[in-house]
Amino acid sequence: MIEIKNLSKKFGSSFGLMNINLTLEKEESVIITGQNGAGKTTLVRSILGEQIPTCGDIRIAGIDPFKERANVLKHIGFVPQLPPPIKLSVKELINYASVLSGAEEKKISDICQKLELDVKEHFKKIFFKLSGGMKQKLLIAIALAKEPDIFIFDEPTANLDMQGRENFYKLMRSLHGGRLLVFISHRLEEIKDLINRKIEMDFGKVVKDEKFV
Ligand SMILES: Nc1ncnc2c1ncn2[C@@H]1O[C@H](COP(=O)(O)OP(=O)(O)O)[C@@H](O)[C@H]1O
Ligand SMILES: [Mg+2]
Repeated sequence: MIEIKNLSKKFGSSFGLMNINLTLEKEESVIITGQNGAGKTTLVRSILGEQIPTCGDIRIAGIDPFKERANVLKHIGFVPQLPPPIKLSVKELINYASVLSGAEEKKISDICQKLELDVKEHFKKIFFKLSGGMKQKLLIAIALAKEPDIFIFDEPTANLDMQGRENFYKLMRSLHGGRLLVFISHRLEEIKDLINRKIEMDFGKVVKDEKFV
């Protein structure tokens, strides 16, 4: 599903990513860990076609994210580390996401409900004025409702309280197979039972890559 070859990204004279080679397959459920500044978000942004690599190649379902970004994004449900400052109301955002991804609005609301976020109660509020946890729940619901074959979550539970995390993991466990799940997370203990591969990054490199059965 995701093929990365000799990928490097330089910021000025320093490396954000240094010669990454990775193949991530369907049915894999991967945690990418590593200290702050290890290059995790830079890797994700490269996969999403948000930044041009200094060198190397990426293919998502055979597609080059830098040449065909819109096509690549059809395959991916992504929840960012920091919610973007969207100026739409909650209702408008749900409508917009639904038009863009083809997911039913009701489905987005239903998933919010499972995350204990009653969106209807907040329909009129501007997205960026919601609490961090509420934003994250709504973005998770939008990504899940799209039913893509690749999910990428960058620190998805960072703003969630314990109950919120529990609900999120419950939802993750209920996803059926045939998908690639990628969690960027420091919370290995929390998602141990969800994953079958652990990739550790440091200084822009992959320093460990373990698969479990
Ligand atoms: N847009 C940018 N401009 C300059 N340096 C950046 C930029 N994005 C990331 N970096 C640098 O690249 C390195 C990796 O950052 P990042 O991918 O955000 O790490 P992580 O997500 O693992 O904490 C860091 O040294 C960071 O300062
Ligand atoms: Mg990061």
